[in-house]
Amino acid sequence: MNGVSLVSQMVEKEGTRRDFLYYATAGTGAVAAGGAIWPLVNQMNPSADVKALSSIRVDIADIEPGTQLTVKWLGKPVFIRRRTEEEITEARAVDLSELADPVGRNNNAPELDASDANRSMDESGEWLVMMGVCTHLGCVPLGDGAGDFHGWFCPCHGSHYDTSGRIRKGPAPQNLPVPIAEFADENTVKLG
Ligand code: FES
Repeated sequence: MNGVSLVSQMVEKEGTRRDFLYYATAGTGAVAAGGAIWPLVNQMNPSADVKALSSIRVDIADIEPGTQLTVKWLGKPVFIRRRTEEEITEARAVDLSELADPVGRNNNAPELDASDANRSMDESGEWLVMMGVCTHLGCVPLGDGAGDFHGWFCPCHGSHYDTSGRIRKGPAPQNLPVPIAEFADENTVKLG
């Protein structure tokens, strides 16, 4: 191949590529003009491999009362706490009117209020599963009875959460959210 034909081939390739880009852009424009939101939403849907990770199983057999396990799920910490009788009693003695955020923030039952029974996993209230992300600016709160309400405390700007993970004092606007979770069996919690 001589130099001239190589250059002409390159120019042709360039041209083809530009045409392709042009058509692709024009196509996107046409979709946007049609007001179709779906292609954008569809692009944002997680791919199959991400979906596979969107559900994990956590072995809770070794969690003693009064301790918690922190697992990473979808890139964020999740607290799985096995509460003591005192923690449950303290959480259940709180009247809704005392809460800064009366909404349950439980993704398993979004319509329910922030009563402790609506946030815990089981009827007895022994298990509490929450995202470990402060609802103020996203720090990870300290646990194990931390803060003025014996639950979790976020030292970043001083948010105190009670033994049900509800915001009681400080700048955080919402209770710690409860993710989609269920018991897969008596020793396993499934997140997502
Ligand atoms: S991030 Fe937790 S109090 Fe600000």
